[in-house]
This record gives sequence, structure tokens and C-alpha cells, in this order.
Amino acid sequence: MIVTVTLTPALDKTVVLPGFAVDQVNRIQSLRLDAGGKGINVSKVLKALGTDSLATGILGGGTGRYIENALQEMGIACDFAWVPQDTRTNLKVIDPVSHTNTDINEPGAPVSEEVLESVFEKAAAAANPGDIVVLAGKAPAGTADTIFADWITRFKARGIKVYMDADAALLIAGAKACPAMIKPNDAELGRLLGRSFSGIADLAAAAKELVEGGIETVVVSLGGDGALFVTKNEVLRGKGLRVPVQSTVGAGDSMMATMAHGAVSGMSFRDTCALAMAVSAATVMTPGTQAADMNVVRELLPKVELETL
Ligand SMILES: Nc1ncnc2c1ncn2[C@@H]1O[C@H](COP(=O)(O)OP(=O)(O)OP(=O)(O)O)[C@@H](O)[C@H]1O
Ligand SMILES: [Mg+2]
Repeated sequence: MIVTVTLTPALDKTVVLPGFAVDQVNRIQSLRLDAGGKGINVSKVLKALGTDSLATGILGGGTGRYIENALQEMGIACDFAWVPQDTRTNLKVIDPVSHTNTDINEPGAPVSEEVLESVFEKAAAAANPGDIVVLAGKAPAGTADTIFADWITRFKARGIKVYMDADAALLIAGAKACPAMIKPNDAELGRLLGRSFSGIADLAAAAKELVEGGIETVVVSLGGDGALFVTKNEVLRGKGLRVPVQSTVGAGDSMMATMAHGAVSGMSFRDTCALAMAVSAATVMTPGTQAADMNVVRELLPKVELETL
């Protein structure tokens, strides 16, 4: 079983608005609503890969209900903690005339210790020893930076593996608790280690440092330049696949989902990494935060180049 945790989900409202202009009346051409948030995106990609997960985290109000319904319609099991305030709506304005993509994001509301603890309990109740909990995204405003670190320690004490995708202070504290897997991009890795990198060998050495510190698997994603997959025994470099880019939103989440899918399906590490390259490239070919098309994944998979460093 895989459990995904999203503490700050959002209803993503994507509007197509040709000739978007400030200080004027703008008329929307088309609109779509998607359940968003990093853990939720991981659950969506897992579903597309044929792996079930339980989505937990915090939802509120009418927008929260919309997200829960949307996930349930996709066949994703949900067990969220509920708060009275509406889950935020994030507006994405796509202007096909000026080729711009403008994000207008609501701030998230703070939540109580009790609500956070109930999310931990839901995840811990659903996961058995050996299962994976994915902690992904930001924590609500005002939450201690050590929340993921504390949860990692507590999940590990129950034999549950944590895959973490976080940034900044959450990542720095969380990494010290040695989750089973982290997936920073190069900028996040820089913030984690407090330095910048000069090329692939330097990035691989940095990932290796973290593995030696006790994190089993470190995946460093490099956008269009591909990714590095580092464990105690293997250092693989996936070359970036050349694909037409529609939206890079969720590319990292699809990589996270595939790593978890490979682990629970008994795939080899190498096959899992190859699939992660294909799924993440297929994700950037789809608009918005929709999961990758598995037919595209099947076409891309033979094109993946994985090099042992
Ligand atoms: N332009 C691109 N072309 C091909 N593949 C891409 C491109 N951008 C991303 N990818 C694939 O997706 C993976 C993850 O992307 P990226 O490094 O941008 O993650 P990220 O910064 O965590 O993104 P996010 O957090 O927004 O999901 C990359 O390692 C790569 O395999
Ligand atoms: Mg990311």
C-alpha cells in the first residue's frame, strides 16, 4: 500500500484567456478544474500506472469536497482530515496570444496541531510495515519546519518507508531524519546542501553524500536535462528525453509516483528509473496537472537512455 499525504492541496482552476489584460474586463474562453497538490498528483499518476494508493491530507469546505469527489471518481481512495475553511483555489491564466502562463495563488490557512496529528494517524493507520508513505509539498502556514522530520522518525519506528518531496527548511530538517527516498531538483538540492554544483559529476557526488548519510535513494531531477538516480550500489543518469513541452507542472510528482510504483511492484531499480524517465517526460507533454498518457509512456520507454556513472 502507498499512502500519499498532501497538507496543502489546492483546487487548480485553469482558464484559457486570449489577450489577457490588466485593468480590463477579460472573458474566459475555456475553463477546467483539477484536484491539485503534490501528494494528490502522485496518487493520480499511481492510478494511471495501475497502483492503488490512499490519499490523505487536509481538505476544507466546498472546494475540498470538489477535490474529494474528483479523486473518488478517478477511483482513488481518500481519507482526509477536514477543516472548516475552504481549500484554496489556485488560478492559472493561460494566454495563447501572448504565450504567457500566469499563476494567481491563494494563501493557505494555518491549521491546528490536532488536525496535523489526525493526518499522521490516518496515514499511520493505513500503512503497514514495509509500506510507503509519500510526504509531498509544503506544510500549512505556521507549521513547524520539523513536521516531516518528526513524522519520518515516527513512521520509521513502525517500519514504514517515507518518500519525501519537499523544499527549503522542511527538506533540510526532513533529510536529517533519513527518509527512504528524496527527490530534490538541482535548486532544491542546492538549498539542502547550501552550495551550488558544477555539472553532473558534482551533482552525483552530492547525492552520494546524502546516501552515505543514510538516505537509501536520492533522485535529483534536472528538468529537461533528465535525472540522476543514486543508491549505495548504483549511480544512474537518465538523459532528458526530447519531447514537445505542454506543461512542466507535476513532472517531479510523476517521477516520485513512478519510484514508489516500482518499489511496490517488485521492479528492478534500473527498470524503475527508466520508467520514471518515460512517465515524467510524458507528463510534460500533457497540459495542466493531468497524469501522463500511458500510451505515450509506452512509446517513450524504448527511447530512454540510462547511463551508469
Ligand atoms: N522539458 C522537459 N523535457 C523532458 N523531460 C522533462 C522536462 N522537464 C521535466 N522533465 C522530466 O521530469 C522530471 C522532473 O522534472 P523537474 O526536474 O522539472 O521536477 P521538479 O522541479 O520537481 O518539478 P515540479 O516540482 O514542478 O513537479 C525530469 O527529471 C525529467 O525526467
Ligand atoms: Mg518538485
